[in-house]
Amino acid sequence: MRDLNEGTLTNETIRAVTGGSDKRISQVSEALVRHLHAFIREIEPSQAEWEYGIKFLTRVGKQCSDTRQEFILLSDTLGVSMLVDAINHRQSEGATETTVFGPFYVENRPQLPLGANMSPDETGTPLFVSGTVRALDGQPIAGALVDAWHSDEVGHYDVQVGDDLRMRALFRSDAEGRFWFWTVRPTFYPIPNDGPVGDMLAAQGRHPYRPEHVHFMISAPGQQTLVTHLFIDNDPYLDSDVVFGVKNSLITDYSRHDAGTAPDGSTCHRDFLTLNYDFVLNPEAE
Ligand code: BEZ
Ligand code: FE
Repeated sequence: MRDLNEGTLTNETIRAVTGGSDKRISQVSEALVRHLHAFIREIEPSQAEWEYGIKFLTRVGKQCSDTRQEFILLSDTLGVSMLVDAINHRQSEGATETTVFGPFYVENRPQLPLGANMSPDETGTPLFVSGTVRALDGQPIAGALVDAWHSDEVGHYDVQVGDDLRMRALFRSDAEGRFWFWTVRPTFYPIPNDGPVGDMLAAQGRHPYRPEHVHFMISAPGQQTLVTHLFIDNDPYLDSDVVFGVKNSLITDYSRHDAGTAPDGSTCHRDFLTLNYDFVLNPEAE
């Protein structure tokens, strides 16, 4: 392993990184070196550019904390998260499509009864969300866990502005697989862009926005956990989502209603919106 040069370095590095006993580590290490070297050979960085790249990754690492994962944001904005999602969810025809998880899920969210308002103190437009959870054969799934979370009317998640958990909750579907709850209309928003990923987006001539959406995570025994969103039709960012998460089957729209009786029989004293969607879970692999 001496006098290595442009011609011999790649194969020698691959030989060095594939000597361990774990076959998967050898496979991953080999592919990593092969692709990384091909990338470097293609772009032929100057020494200063290589240093810039190292400094950029260092900044990404330093930006990470208990509440901020800049590496995942980098993965999201380079299309890697959605590629991993696609590879891991080659699901059956008819099952609801998946999309990116995002950084704003909170384990500690409240569990609320069906029909509850998960955003009682928000000033946004009242929104009634309802739907069903079904298996691939159309059977309703009773007792499915339905997690929902979204931004406020100006595009902030609760965790971005304080300690109070708002605009998020866990519900359990009823005997007919139905769920329903009240909240407020979210809006499109920029992903956290005050760090190195934001600088990268600016340098690439990209905006940092995600189209308006409500996140869902739905789980039930014997079914794959579904991580997805509902997007809203005609949003200005549907065709340029900064994390590449939009799928046509997940685009839906609100129905608009004058103040009055809501679908759950309650009275809403302001004009309100309704959003309805039927989710279909993919069976767990045998
Ligand atoms: C989100 O939708 O919450 C999200 C997804 C990826 C990156 C940032 C935010
Ligand atoms: Fe989101």
